[in-house]
Amino acid sequence: MRGLGIDIVEVERIEERLAKRILGETEMQIYEQIVNPEARRRFLAGRFAAKEALAKALATRDFDFKKAEFLRLEDGAPVPSEKTIELAKNREVKVSISHEKKFAVAVVLIL
Ligand SMILES: CC(C)(COP(=O)(O)OP(=O)(O)OC[C@H]1O[C@@H](n2cnc3c(N)ncnc32)[C@H](O)[C@@H]1OP(=O)(O)O)[C@@H](O)C(=O)NCCC(=O)NCCS
Repeated sequence: MRGLGIDIVEVERIEERLAKRILGETEMQIYEQIVNPEARRRFLAGRFAAKEALAKALATRDFDFKKAEFLRLEDGAPVPSEKTIELAKNREVKVSISHEKKFAVAVVLIL
């Protein structure tokens, strides 16, 4: 294992305007399709946690959060985009996200 990161985010502190700052194009498409406002906020909180967890796993925040996208497989599982894998110097990147009403958490592994 080359890197490990975890992050926890309080959902109610997440504001809608954060979406434009941190979501990549594909993440934004997913976000905009979520109708329920609370579910939208949880999704945004989860993606923010995943990007912060990636920063910890890479030991740097010196990258554009919009470029570090976590896409969604058909079954709902999050996966790193090609660009995110490039940021990790083409190493394998694993991510897991969970959210409840109050908190969202994410873990990222670099292998
Ligand atoms: C995956 C599953 C367990 C999520 O459980 P949950 O308690 O409702 O939701 P959580 O808050 O813990 O997690 C939500 C996050 O799980 C992730 N997720 C969704 N489906 C997933 C899957 N199949 N595998 C891995 N992660 C998944 C997503 O990142 C999601 O957040 P996002 O939509 O904002 O990206 C649930 O959707 C499920 O039972 N799916 C069908 C069975 C399955 O595929 N299970 C895989 C693990 S046993």
